[in-house]
Amino acid sequence: MELMRRMRRLRTSAEIRSLVREHSVQVNDLIYPMFVMAGEKQKVAVPSMPGVYQYSVDQFTEALGEVRRAGVKAVLLFGIPQMKDALGTEAHRADGIVQESVRAAKRLYPDILLITDVCLCEYTDHGHCGVVRQGEIINDETLALLEQTALSHVRAGADIVAPSDMMDGRVRAIRRALDREGFVHTPVMAYSAKFASGFYGPFRDAAGSAPQFGDRKTYQMDPPNGNEAMWETALDVEEGADIVIVKPALSYGDIIYRTKQRFQLPVAAYNVSGEYAMIKAAAANGWIDERRIVLEALVGMKRAGADLLITYYALDVAAWLQDGSEGL
Ligand code: PBG
Repeated sequence: MELMRRMRRLRTSAEIRSLVREHSVQVNDLIYPMFVMAGEKQKVAVPSMPGVYQYSVDQFTEALGEVRRAGVKAVLLFGIPQMKDALGTEAHRADGIVQESVRAAKRLYPDILLITDVCLCEYTDHGHCGVVRQGEIINDETLALLEQTALSHVRAGADIVAPSDMMDGRVRAIRRALDREGFVHTPVMAYSAKFASGFYGPFRDAAGSAPQFGDRKTYQMDPPNGNEAMWETALDVEEGADIVIVKPALSYGDIIYRTKQRFQLPVAAYNVSGEYAMIKAAAANGWIDERRIVLEALVGMKRAGADLLITYYALDVAAWLQDGSEGL
């Protein structure tokens, strides 16, 4: 009888399947995005992102207690300022919302890694990620503001800065500014391949950062382009990025794969707000098994080559993993 290659042999039990499993989601991979705002005792639900809140500083530190108990080691912070203006000046105020939140968090939970999003769109009245003149986003003038913002975060105690603006040259500008001030060991986690995506819709509700005119297509990448993503990433690596982000994640598995194959540094996949909202909505209707689908989506990002997973599901995932089951 001819030999048959029986692939099913290694699938016969849960034990053998876990023995030969190639990839897994670990709690150490997870980064949890959080939104902080002015005020006191505020915990405001974001309607398009069930389970996600905007926190005043006191509530934020309380929520960090939950993060810690879940075993999640890193959070990514976004600020919602009280006042917006044309230059987004609140972004770099020493007593701005992110800076105050970082200080409070470091006092209470010095061991939680605080990554701060460095961008202007939450702070500008026009909602764009840079300085605007006659309807145009001016690259080089924006760099100085991004430098100041990154520095103010790090002075307050941020562990890692994550520029998400997509201006050319921002990684170099930020790296130089940090080095100049002696912060030579503070990593830059760059949103390197960040696409102009429809999947950011719910985030813009959460952060109040929708552009008031036009769109972000002159600075964020065009979704059909893969080679260009390699260029963007190569530049960020050359300019000093320590970790690179691919964003969004679910429709960009090829970009995650190519990035990891090509650059030997940590790659983070950002499972963005719209991706979260879609799963939440389908789960709320009883159409899908939420836990199973979330873990399947995340392990897919790992399989593509991601080392780190930025996800609004981080706390749920940590709890699911604690059950001892890999959930799939
Ligand atoms: C800010 C920023 C955005 C996101 C992260 N940082 C929004 C945007 O570029 O419009 C999106 C995150 C998400 O959708 O979860 N520039």
